[in-house]
Amino acid sequence: MLKIRIKEAIVKRISEYAEEFGIEVYAVGGYVRDVLLNRKRKDIDFTVVGDSIAFAKFVGEKLKRSAIIFERFRTAMLPYRGYQLEFVGTRKEEYLPNSRKPIVSIGTIEDDLKRRDFTINALAVSLLEEKFGEIIDLFNGLDDLENKILRTPLDPYTTYSDDPLRMMRAARFSAQLEFHLHQSSLDAITQMADRIKIISQERITDEFFKILSANKPSIGLLILKKTGLLKYIFPELDNLSGVEIIEEGGKQYKHKDVFLHSLKVLDNVALVSDKLWLRFAALTHDIGKYKTKRITPNGWTFHGHEEFGAKIMSNIFRRMKFPLDNLEYVQRLIRLHQRPMQLVDEVVTDSAIRRLAFQAGDALEDLFILCKADITTKNPYLEAQYLNNYDIVAQKVLEVQVKDKLREFQSPVRGEEIMKICNLPPSKPVGIIKGKIEDAILDGIIPNEYDAALKYFLENKDKWLSEIGKEEFSKIRY
Ligand code: CTP
Repeated sequence: MLKIRIKEAIVKRISEYAEEFGIEVYAVGGYVRDVLLNRKRKDIDFTVVGDSIAFAKFVGEKLKRSAIIFERFRTAMLPYRGYQLEFVGTRKEEYLPNSRKPIVSIGTIEDDLKRRDFTINALAVSLLEEKFGEIIDLFNGLDDLENKILRTPLDPYTTYSDDPLRMMRAARFSAQLEFHLHQSSLDAITQMADRIKIISQERITDEFFKILSANKPSIGLLILKKTGLLKYIFPELDNLSGVEIIEEGGKQYKHKDVFLHSLKVLDNVALVSDKLWLRFAALTHDIGKYKTKRITPNGWTFHGHEEFGAKIMSNIFRRMKFPLDNLEYVQRLIRLHQRPMQLVDEVVTDSAIRRLAFQAGDALEDLFILCKADITTKNPYLEAQYLNNYDIVAQKVLEVQVKDKLREFQSPVRGEEIMKICNLPPSKPVGIIKGKIEDAILDGIIPNEYDAALKYFLENKDKWLSEIGKEEFSKIRY
């Protein structure tokens, strides 16, 4: 019988409390898997054969902490010195076809383990004093851990039907652990991908972000694509895949597979940054291409894909229930991702550089990470040349920023002052006037200083006010 060495003193204490209370307890699931994989974690799950709530309360008293009880699910959570200890009663679960809510009854440890998602998550460790650390492995989870295989303990159709969220978890664990998803799972998920529709968006999104956080997120995203899950959870991304070839005048016009390119860019960013929203922007920087694709005499073009991509992001954020405070950042990166490249080709003026720095704001460094990651050419000579070009633009931006102190840039004449001088309430014309002052600074007409900006404003305000026109003023409520 294989035993594992448990480092966490708290697990030994739970074993002693179980002995004192007279109950059979096992450490299970992700905790056992992660101990065996040498991964650190703070969540420890315990399966209790019997009254888990009573036992959790007993442990709570011993540790001088109060347990949070979920009576309906027979589970209890106990926060202790940074750990989350979760106690669940062994259970037998049966699911009705269109629901995630199982019919639960008390079961044996075997019942409990076989209802779990993957063999590597269906390992238990005995906490009985005489068997402390002994592993219970009913489904060859240890072999699967060794061979890096993700496989369901039961027939995959049963396991995934019991809880279709597990289809997302399959992609997530494959990416997170870099395990190979067994063919039987791939087949089952492909056949039943539409069952993902009964899962709440929050839980899908949670798994999606765990995929994005992996060292190589493309592993999980390729599984989502291959199994057809992607078209349910992220149709816009799904739409990017495929290559179209058109023949005209004896010539072939082919574009790259935008989906595969996006995965490459994402993996490139993941090599250098853990920032989730930067990774998401990398994945979606070309999202507008599916709608803007045109064939011209010179080949395929995607004019306006940056703007269209930024525009549809707001619907995507709402549908996927992403936190909206990251929307503007993602839109900014999508909108600007081609810009530095355009500045490489031109004889670059300070004002073009300034405009980029101003529009990118505090996302400027991330924009350059994205742009460099976007270089996916296989030609090493070209790759080196493109990377070097970006370094040149980045250097120019730095120089202009230092010169102008653009990082804190906004019109030195503030909105309140514009309102007072022009006798305007808060309204669109105030923003337009502020924009004109900012433009003058960005174009180098005046320096980024208060006195110069005020003078310029006073000289031009009447002209601007008449340009803005009656229509805008008629909307103002004084
Ligand atoms: N589990 C399951 N099916 C699910 C969710 C969870 O079978 N849909 C089981 C698995 O045995 C899993 C355990 O419950 O190991 C704990 O679930 P959870 O904390 O969500 O996952 P972990 O495996 O612990 O992994 P992580 O904490 O990294 O998400």
